[in-house]
Amino acid sequence: MRAEQPQAVHLADYRVPAFLIDHVDLRIELFEDCALVHSRLNIRRNPADESQARDLVLNGEELGLESLMLDGRPVENHRVDEGFLTVPSVPEHFHLDVTTRIHPRDNTRLEGLYQSSGMFCTQCEAEGFRRITYFPDRPDVMACYRTRIEADREAYPVLLANGNPVDWGELEDGRHQVTWEDPYPKPSYLFAMVAGDLVEKRDEFVTGSGRTIDLRMYVEARNEAKCEHALASLKKAMAWDEEVYGREYDLDIFMVVAVDDFNMGAMENKGLNIFNSSCVLASPETATDAAYDRIESIVAHEYFHNWSGNRVTCRDWFQLSLKEGFTVFRDNQFSADMGSPTVQRIDHVNMLRTAQFAEDAGPMAHPVRPDSYIEIANFYTLTVYEKGAEVVRMIHTLLGPDMFREGSDLYFARHDGQAVTTDDFVRAMEDASSRDLTQFRRWYEQAGTPELRVTDAFDAESGTYTLTIRQSCPATPGQSHKEPFHIPVRMGLIASDGEALPLDAEQNTETVLELTDTEHSFQFSGLAERPVPSLLRGFSAPVKLDYSWTRDQLMFLMSRDPDGFNRWDAGQKLAVDVILSIQQGRDTEVDPRLVEAYRTLLTTPGLDRAMVARMLALPSTAWLIELTDEADVAAIDGARHQVEQTVARALRDELLQVRADHHPGGDYAFEPGQVAARSLSNSALALLTRIGDDQGRDQALAQFDQATNMTDRLAALKALVDSPFSQEREDALARFHADWQHDPQVVEQWFAAQSGSPWIGNVNRVTELLAHPAFDWKNPNKVRMVIGVFAGRNLTHFHSPDGSGHRFLGEQIRRLDAFNPQISAQLAQPLTRWRQYAPHLRDSMAGVLRELRDLPDLSRDLYEVVTKSLG
Ligand code: ARG
Ligand code: ZN
Repeated sequence: MRAEQPQAVHLADYRVPAFLIDHVDLRIELFEDCALVHSRLNIRRNPADESQARDLVLNGEELGLESLMLDGRPVENHRVDEGFLTVPSVPEHFHLDVTTRIHPRDNTRLEGLYQSSGMFCTQCEAEGFRRITYFPDRPDVMACYRTRIEADREAYPVLLANGNPVDWGELEDGRHQVTWEDPYPKPSYLFAMVAGDLVEKRDEFVTGSGRTIDLRMYVEARNEAKCEHALASLKKAMAWDEEVYGREYDLDIFMVVAVDDFNMGAMENKGLNIFNSSCVLASPETATDAAYDRIESIVAHEYFHNWSGNRVTCRDWFQLSLKEGFTVFRDNQFSADMGSPTVQRIDHVNMLRTAQFAEDAGPMAHPVRPDSYIEIANFYTLTVYEKGAEVVRMIHTLLGPDMFREGSDLYFARHDGQAVTTDDFVRAMEDASSRDLTQFRRWYEQAGTPELRVTDAFDAESGTYTLTIRQSCPATPGQSHKEPFHIPVRMGLIASDGEALPLDAEQNTETVLELTDTEHSFQFSGLAERPVPSLLRGFSAPVKLDYSWTRDQLMFLMSRDPDGFNRWDAGQKLAVDVILSIQQGRDTEVDPRLVEAYRTLLTTPGLDRAMVARMLALPSTAWLIELTDEADVAAIDGARHQVEQTVARALRDELLQVRADHHPGGDYAFEPGQVAARSLSNSALALLTRIGDDQGRDQALAQFDQATNMTDRLAALKALVDSPFSQEREDALARFHADWQHDPQVVEQWFAAQSGSPWIGNVNRVTELLAHPAFDWKNPNKVRMVIGVFAGRNLTHFHSPDGSGHRFLGEQIRRLDAFNPQISAQLAQPLTRWRQYAPHLRDSMAGVLRELRDLPDLSRDLYEVVTKSLG
């Protein structure tokens, strides 16, 4: 147990800052073993602060205070406590000069200023700036920054910070300086600087108003050939934001930097976005289609933050979803416009329903706008990001695209340069549309996934069909009772001949039902027969929907629903029912209708191949666990495996035909047609090798040798890894490593192919990977690819009935917590849902959590996760 218990911060305790800072002048001297940070702050009392505090309190962590002057005179009566610097009785206006000494080389938490493979870089969100200098490190203190960086010219020829370069030159002892000025006031979490020996790739973008923006990407020389896709994505994102939201870029330079050691995906620092290498670097030979797709959306996400996050930022960290929910919604819209909207939506909802629903049903459940936290880094969650995006999407659905755009215009106009709340966002949407979103606001305040229970009745005499929908929401920590939500349900009705039925006098065949009460009935008249309902099209609300479709109805919807998302979802529901019936002993054989439905998909000409690939993928073990109380993972896995083997054996000829017909040749392009063809062909390959098919094995070996891109090469490798062909598998793994050991992003994939494999990724294998020379404890990507993928994706072995997987994770978390608490707390996530599992698994997971809780020097981050999980 920790010596002192970390305290929670509450939204209800929010007070405006006592002091405001108009200007920050930084001079940062970089040396090999330390950095000196000289900061001059222009400070004035905040007229809006009613407390009229006389003492200035600044945040600071792990800082050596070298000097402190107020209006040019040394301060003597200050106090330095754990986390704070207090200067008593300061005047109305003054300037404060602070010099701190920090140690970027020893900064293993990767928060603040740190070193990553020889370069210096920063990560300040949420509370990293206080690890650089003393400052009121909260997002509602916005200032203009001028940053001068000094370093050895040879080792660090490139020196970057936010804004525009305004001065540069030589200094003594082979050192040089570059000074940057950012004219836009910003919170400290958007501060960034970089120093390194980096190559620069240049491009440009001409804005709608005719300004030419310099685009610059900075990477290590070995990555020079991996910049093209990110720059192309950036230009698309810039054009899209002008077209769809009317938002133009506001500085003359936009910079992107890739760093290897990074706790998260990327960071939207003003004018200087910093990325995890794996979320920005790509070439056809080294990155898969999935990586290309991820990079396109993350580059766009960070760029979009320039308006939704930087120009308009968060008042406090409880409002994190103000910028993240809205920006994820924006990047989803962008990705939909760049490729197939339906496939994009399917992939997104699949992730939301498995991972975010699990979070919402577990002990860490919190509202999109949380009420309290112990460590804010733990609240960069799927709820804040993904559910937050769904909430914005529902506003878009309720208002329609035109009103939504008026609402966003009003939001940006009204709050430009301000730090605001989610409520301000909703109010702008209300004011622009004259819609009342009072009840809708509960989506921000109440945690938990609502459940819709749908029943129906058909009166043949009058031709009236009645749908009755009851909503409820389970209790979550601190919220035992929930008020009804305002829920948009997009739907349609389908006749037995597949015809979409008119729903109203205007002959519309699709409508949005708005639920506001606990129970609502909707009537549709003039129908000749009982229709099949198609509900929650496009997943119009983040809810669980329960309606007793028959298997025949689901098969009908799989081919006849006009909504592509619902076609996929009907297939998922059918497969879930088939798998869980086998697991629970209600069926002994796999329902042949499932096989026939898949056969139809594989043989119907003209279907979108990306859709067919998604529809052929059985529901994941994670989703099946989510749908089961007291989940017995081995039993669920066994049933899923039986269904997969039956389906793949029965469809062997069709799968081989897919392979013959659909594999794209020629040069690689990240283009929807090619991506779809690869994904279907590689899905077929995986199924063939999994049933031990010799032809499948030969094709995998040939593809592994001959592939000209990483999508196909890695797909072949994984097909062999997850197959009974043990000799071929080990040969391929060894060759893949020998060929790619020089490239960290590819080695990450090599690790994940093993740690994530239900066939080979057991505790012994994963333990070996930790001892591999390419594994590096200090590199979060390697840690995630081995330990995170094992615990998060390889549920077969993580939930090994003997508890070895759980204990393994506990040991690694303990080790990591000593030097990178953000990562240890992230890795503990899979343990938090222990109550969802069968007794033997539950006990072993809780046991590991208790051991962690009782450790002497637990970090705040991990403390919050384990105590809330057990509480
Ligand atoms: N704002 C960044 C993004 O969503 C994420 C930063 C997360 N940082 C953290 N310390 N949790 O793009
Ligand atoms: Zn973001």
